[in-house]
Amino acid sequence: MKLPSLLLAVALGSVTTVSAGLAVVECWFVEDAGGGRLAKRPAALLLRQGPGEPPLRSDLDPELYLKVRDPAGALQAAFRRYPPSAPAPHCEMSRYLPFPASVNWASGLTPEHSCPRALDGTWFMVSVSSRVISLSSLLQLQSESQRDSAFITMATAVLTVVTHTPITQIRLGQDALLDLSFAYMPPTPETTASLAPGPPPFGLEWRRQHLGKGHLLLAATPGLGGQMPASRDGAVAFATWDDNEPWGPWTGNGTLWLPSVRPFQEGSYLATIHLPYLQGQVTLELAVQKPPKVSLMPTPLVWAAPGEVPPELLCLVSHFYPPAGLEVEWELRGGPEDSFQKAKGKSWLSALRHHSDGSVSLSAHLQPPPVTAAQHGARYACRVHHPSLPALGRSAQVTLEVAGLSGPSLEDGIGLFLSAFLLLGLLKALGWAAACLSTSKESKEKKAQ
Ligand SMILES: *[C@@H]1O[C@H](CO)[C@@H](O)[C@H](O)[C@H]1NC(C)=O
Repeated sequence: MKLPSLLLAVALGSVTTVSAGLAVVECWFVEDAGGGRLAKRPAALLLRQGPGEPPLRSDLDPELYLKVRDPAGALQAAFRRYPPSAPAPHCEMSRYLPFPASVNWASGLTPEHSCPRALDGTWFMVSVSSRVISLSSLLQLQSESQRDSAFITMATAVLTVVTHTPITQIRLGQDALLDLSFAYMPPTPETTASLAPGPPPFGLEWRRQHLGKGHLLLAATPGLGGQMPASRDGAVAFATWDDNEPWGPWTGNGTLWLPSVRPFQEGSYLATIHLPYLQGQVTLELAVQKPPKVSLMPTPLVWAAPGEVPPELLCLVSHFYPPAGLEVEWELRGGPEDSFQKAKGKSWLSALRHHSDGSVSLSAHLQPPPVTAAQHGARYACRVHHPSLPALGRSAQVTLEVAGLSGPSLEDGIGLFLSAFLLLGLLKALGWAAACLSTSKESKEKKAQ
């Protein structure tokens, strides 16, 4: 987005804040009910409200009806941008216990080995997923004794991790940018005062999950140093805080860049932000696609005499991905009623051919039935459907010429004869010109010697 349009969008956004996006997010609170079972109870996040008291929700447990204070603004911003046409996001909440990062390379984040008092109290982790956004936020709840309302609980968003690319379809061989931003406001002023001013060190972790196995792609702890695992697949991340305010809130960028994506890189990507005793995580999906090229042979005409079987048609569907979801239809357009119909005849598909870039090709074959005179000028088409193509698919066609009747007429015959004659003449002329050139070159070379 260019700067003026960005400014305009910001201006429009601030005008329409009350009406735009989602002000209440309906959620499920999930907890272990013992015996390996999970219990679900309804919950809601009140992000914004009109003047006066918050709307009454007698259907909710007061501890599960949360009025969210969001000093860093990331949670609010994410839902303010939520498109009204998109389906409601899926939201789940569960209890969270602050704990140090379990990975070795992030141990430098918690050198003091004791969880600060500021992290005491009840914590919920909210996970929101949808087609347009995926986020997770750690909420610190106001204790029951501090509550000033009997039916709603105040909660503060401390760490929020957001991606605007929860589902990425990337064209095979192109670079993928997996968006990740995060925002952090330290829990209470006491903790900030005890720390050095400025954003704290953090850890960024990107993993790929494939067939139940996790692969660490990239780990970074900007501002901490120490031994880091090497990054894989050429992955690069923008691991920075965006601002340098002394006491926060701070926002940061952990966007991952993957160069020329190949099929083996498909799957779920887990992005984790590690802060001392707090971890925020989102999941993204990456899928690779390549639309097929479609060509039909013989081209551009197929000939047959009435009652004869025309030559077999071969539709080459090449260099596509994924192999699944490909369909080939044969159509006959035009002909007697200038109609459009499924082509008759025998059709079959070849086996897949695999290419070194991970894409595949196949050929579709059609043996059309004998032609009738009325089919002269009709077109055979192969239409290819694939998830990478628009709904109509992609097609290639060939025109049927029925010899004899309205087919190649006397004039056509003469035309053909003439063009053959002219072509022959042209070839002769070219041959002659080539001979001339080479002899003159030879003679020049001779002179030069
Ligand atoms: C994060 O960094 C990437 C790469 O520079 C950039 O494209 C993206 O817009 C940044 N995200 C935010 C929220 O600034």
